[in-house]
Parts: sequence; structure tokens; C-alpha cells
Amino acid sequence: MKYKSQKVAYWFFALSMLLLTIQLTYGFIMGFAHMGLDGLHNIIAFNTARAVHTNALVMWLLSGFMGAAYYIIPEEAEHELVNVKLAYVQLISFALVGVIALVGYHFNYWEGRKFLEIPRPLDWLVVVNVLTFLGLIVTTLFKGKKRTTTSLVLTMGLVFAALLYLPGMIWFDNQTLDSFFRWWVVHLWVEGVWELIMGGILAFLLIKITGVDREVIEKWLYVIVGLTFISGILGTGHHYYYIGVGKVWLIVGGIFSALEPLAFLGMALFAIVMYRRGEKKHPNKLALNWTLGTAIVSFIGAGLLGLAHTLPQVNLYTHGTLVTAMHGHLAFWGAYAMIILAIIAYAMPNLTGRKLFDTARGTYAFWLSNIGMLGMTAAFGVAGVAQVYMERKMGIEFGEVQKEIQVHFLVLVSCATMFTTGIILYLIEFVKFGLPTDEALESK
Ligand code: HEM
Ligand code: HEM
Ligand SMILES: [Fe+2]
Repeated sequence: MKYKSQKVAYWFFALSMLLLTIQLTYGFIMGFAHMGLDGLHNIIAFNTARAVHTNALVMWLLSGFMGAAYYIIPEEAEHELVNVKLAYVQLISFALVGVIALVGYHFNYWEGRKFLEIPRPLDWLVVVNVLTFLGLIVTTLFKGKKRTTTSLVLTMGLVFAALLYLPGMIWFDNQTLDSFFRWWVVHLWVEGVWELIMGGILAFLLIKITGVDREVIEKWLYVIVGLTFISGILGTGHHYYYIGVGKVWLIVGGIFSALEPLAFLGMALFAIVMYRRGEKKHPNKLALNWTLGTAIVSFIGAGLLGLAHTLPQVNLYTHGTLVTAMHGHLAFWGAYAMIILAIIAYAMPNLTGRKLFDTARGTYAFWLSNIGMLGMTAAFGVAGVAQVYMERKMGIEFGEVQKEIQVHFLVLVSCATMFTTGIILYLIEFVKFGLPTDEALESK
């Protein structure tokens, strides 16, 4: 690392890894429940497990993004973080709000809106927390010597993500209005501004790992930002097909969301072209794997599997089924989980001074988790298509269909075990790095 204050990033990464283990534990609870093994039902009902699984996911991704920003911004801006103590206060308060929310779900302290289950009073604490974070990042950026495109795109993504949290906090008594604005958060996050965060981190990693000129890499970034906004904003319409809004959304949503994969294709090509141009000398092969991996897997999970059910004619049948879960898993994994695992893999040797660049454990972590996740995606997909035909085409009752597709969850849990083995190896590697130290400071 080049600046002492970058060490803050480590603690955000550590929190992120802790929340990841919680997410996976609750994933297994649901996987078994789908097989008919729902012994925990009275303590952790399916809806509780689902809320913990998806919210722990969002929390570990946010903690990872914050860690990434605390690592990247000082280095790009060439300035220490303006207030390190405040960053630790922000870390602890973020963890506290997270714990209260996750525990609360077990006692029905929640709002039953998928992904936005956090009750409104806690939302206000999230707002204060995120404002503190943004304050630190933005002041560091503006006090710094440089404001690179990479750091600006990353910061823009973070600022917009914070702003887009607000529509989810407005109170509506009307279900359609509530749904309408819920998508401003959920969709415009993952198919809009989070893509800027991803693009910013990806650009930073490619600059460091491939050694290609910053000018070249940052030109691509403009193209990706452009494609994201052109397609993603009106693409929100693919959630407005059948929720009680006007028919015009069938056309608008269909056309624009079908263009969304282009932004992800852009990112995949970007990474591959830069890798081929680069000198291939950087020793951190694991960071390279995760970086190229995220660009490619996000195109498959978000771009292609999103396209698979984005047209109104298809979505009419697949909406809210396990087909959605199929896409949700590979998209979140490829785009946002992997980019965080990439920046951690890149940052850890620099923060701790330990050069665990190319270990067998790290390589197995990459392949087992990715192959496991592909298997899980396939299992969800097969279960989803069977569900759609039985439930939506043949009109068989929901619960009956769930019994028919139980067997696919045996496959899901087996693949999830492989996936989790990979993640455990990644976590062991994380712990082996040890704590960040000032001795790891490099000359600037
Ligand atoms: C990294 C980017 C993406 C992530 C993380 C992601 C994740 C998700 C998740 C979690 C859902 C379920 C949301 C809910 O029901 O509350 C969803 C729904 C959906 N996604 Fe994506 N997605 C991404 C990109 C895309 C793209 C690029 C497309 C289109 C090409 C797409 C098409 C859809 C559609 C049509 C639905 C609605 C499914 C339904 O009606 O049940 N997604 N996505
Ligand atoms: C141990 C591994 C995992 C298992 C067993 C698992 C299992 C499940 C199950 C059974 C569901 C509920 C599906 C339903 O509604 O019936 C679910 C939902 C979900 N999981 Fe996982 N999961 C795992 C890991 C992950 C990971 C690593 C991610 C993201 C990177 C993820 C993202 C999601 C999302 C976004 C949803 C909501 C999907 C939707 O809205 O349809 N899961 N998971
Ligand atoms: Fe969407």
C-alpha cells in the first residue's frame, strides 16, 4: 500500500467476509427447506431465512464496496484519508445497524418488501452512516492531488447509490406505487449505479495488473458508463409489465432492457482486450483470475441470463419463479461478489506485506466457487423451468409444484457445498494473510 490510511479497508473487507458466511449459512437453511427438510421452521421460518440471506448479501457487498473505496481513493487521489478515526466509527456503526436488522428479522421486525426489508427507523441510521462514508471519500478526493476518471466514476457510483436509497424510504399506502419506487432502488442499483462502482474497481485493477496505459483503460470506462445509462434507466420498465402501471412499459421495458447486456459485454471485452494488451508480468495471478472472472461471469449471469427472461412475453410466465433466482445468483455472484473478491485478492498482499500471490489454495478457491455457482445456477434453472410449466402452463397449485421439484434442490445443495468449499478456502487464505501493517508501506 502507498498510504497508511488504506489499512481501514482491511476491516471493511473482514466485516464483508463475516457477513458472507452468515449469508451462506441461511442459503443452506433455505436449500434444505426446499428439499422438504424444514426442521428449523419454528425458529427460522423460510421468509426470515430469505430476508437474512439477501440482506446479508447486500450488506457484505456494500461493506466490500466501502473497503474498496477506502483502498482505492487515497491511492488514486494521492492523499491520506482525511479522518481515519471517523472511518472506524463508520465501520462499527455500519456493523451495528446490520446486526440489529438481521437479528430483528428473526422477531418479525421487518418490512416485507424484498431486498428492502430493513424497517424505516433503521433506514435513517443507514443514511447517516452512508453520508459519513461519502463525506470522507469525497473530501479525500477533493483534497488530493489528482482526480482520475477511475476515482470519479467510482465515487459517482457510490454517491448515486446513496441517493437512490431514498425512493425506497418514501411511505406509500398504495401497493403499485410502493412497487414502482422499490424498483428505483433495486433495479437502478444493480443495473445502473452499481455498474459504475464495478467499472471503477475493474478499471483500477486492470491499470494495476495489466500495466496498460491509464488513458486507454479510462476511455473504455466512458463507453461502459454510457451504455449503462442508455439501457439501464429505461430498462427499469422490465419490472413494470404487470404491476398495474401503463402498457407503454411493455415496449419501453422490453426494448431498453434487451440492450442492457451490451454494457456487461463491454466490460467483458474491456477486461479481455486489456489483459491481452498487457505485459502479463504482474505476479498476483489470483487477483487477475478474479478480475477477468468477474468481467466474464457477470456477462453470462447478468447479461445473458437476464436477457433470457426480460421480454414481456417470457416474463409473463417466469416472473417471481425460480428462473428469477437462477439469474439473481449468477448475476450477483459474477458482477458484485467477484469484483469484491478481486479487489480483496489484490489488496491483501499490499496491506499485509505477505506475497501469497499464486497459492494452490487460492486457485482452488477460485475454481471450486465458480464451478459450484454454475452448478447452482443450472439447478435453479431446471427447477425454475419445471416450475413455470407445471404452475403457470398446467395450472397445478404452488405447493404441489414445490413438492415435484424437490429433487432439484438435492443438486442445488450438492453444488452449493462445492461452492462453499471454495469460499472456505478463500477465507482461510484471507486469515493467513494476517493483519495489515505499516511495514507494508511502499515508496510512492
Ligand atoms: C449485475 C446485474 C444484475 C443483478 C445483480 C441482477 C439481479 C436480479 C435480482 C436479484 C432479481 C430479482 C429481484 C426481485 O424480484 O426483487 C432480478 C430480476 C430481474 N432481472 Fe436482473 N440482475 C442484473 C442484471 C439484469 C439484466 C442486465 C437484465 C436484462 C437483460 C436483467 C433482467 C431481469 C428481469 C427481467 C428480472 C425480473 C424477474 C421477475 O420478473 O421475477 N437483470 N435481477
Ligand atoms: C450456500 C450457497 C447458497 C445457497 C444454498 C443459496 C440458496 C438460495 C435459496 C434456496 C434461495 C431462495 C429461492 C426461493 O425464493 O425459493 C436463495 C435466494 C437468493 N440468493 Fe442464494 N444461495 C446461496 C448463495 C448465494 C450467493 C453466493 C448469492 C450471491 C452472490 C446469492 C444470492 C441470492 C439472491 C439474490 C436470492 C434472491 C433471488 C430472488 O429474488 O429470486 N445466494 N438462495
Ligand atoms: Fe432489472
